[in-house]
Amino acid sequence: MKINTKINLITTIWIICVLVIVNIVVFYSFMTVTVNVEKKVVLQNASAILEDINHGDTDAVIEKKLSKYLTHGSFIRILDDHSKIIHQVTNNKELANKIKARFSRKTISDRYLVHLAQREEQILVVRIPIESNGKVIETLEIGERLVGLELGKDVLLSILIFCTIMGALISLIGGKWLSNIIIRPVSNMIDTMEEIEQSGITKRMVIDQQPKDELQKMAVTFNRMMDRLDINIEKQQQFISDASHELKTPITVIKSYADFLRRRGIQNKEVALDAVEVIHSEATRIQQMTERFLDLANTDLENELEKKSIDLVALCKEIVKQLHSTYKRDLLLHYKEKTITVIADELKLKQVIIILLDNAIKYSSDQIDIYLENQKNGTIIRVKDYGIGIPKEEINNVFERFYRVDKARNRETGGTGLGLSIAKNIMKQHNGEIKVNSTEGVGTEVELFLPKD
Ligand SMILES: Nc1ncnc2c1ncn2[C@@H]1O[C@H](COP(=O)(O)OP(=O)(O)OP(=O)(O)O)[C@@H](O)[C@H]1O
Ligand SMILES: [Mg+2]
Repeated sequence: MKINTKINLITTIWIICVLVIVNIVVFYSFMTVTVNVEKKVVLQNASAILEDINHGDTDAVIEKKLSKYLTHGSFIRILDDHSKIIHQVTNNKELANKIKARFSRKTISDRYLVHLAQREEQILVVRIPIESNGKVIETLEIGERLVGLELGKDVLLSILIFCTIMGALISLIGGKWLSNIIIRPVSNMIDTMEEIEQSGITKRMVIDQQPKDELQKMAVTFNRMMDRLDINIEKQQQFISDASHELKTPITVIKSYADFLRRRGIQNKEVALDAVEVIHSEATRIQQMTERFLDLANTDLENELEKKSIDLVALCKEIVKQLHSTYKRDLLLHYKEKTITVIADELKLKQVIIILLDNAIKYSSDQIDIYLENQKNGTIIRVKDYGIGIPKEEINNVFERFYRVDKARNRETGGTGLGLSIAKNIMKQHNGEIKVNSTEGVGTEVELFLPKD
């Protein structure tokens, strides 16, 4: 069943239930009020009758007096203490016969539904005790048709039934209108999603006003999600085109040298060895590049970090030792505390530090200083070199993928231009920061900030 049909049905059933309950209350209140009004009138008549009748009156006089109080379709009778009728006057014999005479010591009233030959009648019977010397000796019994009730009841019942039907109809139409308003954004969203599924192109939902309700907020969130998806797709396409562009040069070089070797063979051993050397170095470059691509892909995903407690001093000492033995460069580690503990993913943190040291080694020739500093809200790692530096206007670009300040020079140093963007991603994953300070010709300082967890 469709959700709007469900809403419609539920609201209609609910409204009908409420209307029926209200109508029942109205109907019974009407009945009670009407009967009470009639009863009051009959009781007034009864006291008038009791005052009118005298002790010495003959039967004929009594019945004559009683007849004066007869209304349309009623009876008045006096019963003895054995419920035997002593006097009776009536203008509806059939009715009088239907209702049994009953002696009563108290004033009571009863409502009867009497089935007569052609119709049904609502009758009110009031019984009033007649006392003599403080003792109840007889009962005055007055029976009267509740004409007002009979008429009013039918009219009221028709009005109430009509109102219930109208209420149900209005609720049905209103419910349909209401559910359409509620469901429209959802249907729009489903349509948009289906269009996206079929065309493969991201689309946005049309939002008329400022988001007010949950459904409009849902549409806004959906559009935001689509924006992010677009940005990611764009990033991915940019990466693929950049990466293929970067790979094209070494592959072209390898291919042309391989062609050369194929055409000329290895007649000139020296030239052939040169060619092999170039092929080897370009192949190594491709290898490094693909490794960097994988690193980048890995840090681009919002993967879970394997965070643990790490002694930063020990980690840096180990890195310095490795790099020193490989590059034979002076790497000086400066720290005040013997151990500085940080919570981080050890492999990734190591990768960032190596990226910074690798740059410092590549772009400088003097010593390199590494400062470790423990602060109140986090830990700072600073890598400082005294090399060529970065021009002021280029500093902001160095975190971009494949960005290299001097492409020609970087081909010699073999960079891919991905190191700092990988470092930035890793710092972002750790909620940390990376900053570059550099003066061209003086040196560069890169600062990492790792917040305390
Ligand atoms: N310490 C530094 N001194 C001078 N220039 C630097 C320094 N660090 C980075 N750069 C400049 O910023 C550019 C981007 O650095 P990044 O580490 O991202 O790439 P790369 O070193 O060229 O290649 P990769 O690190 O991927 O092998 C470098 O090409 C270089 O021009
Ligand atoms: Mg680098």
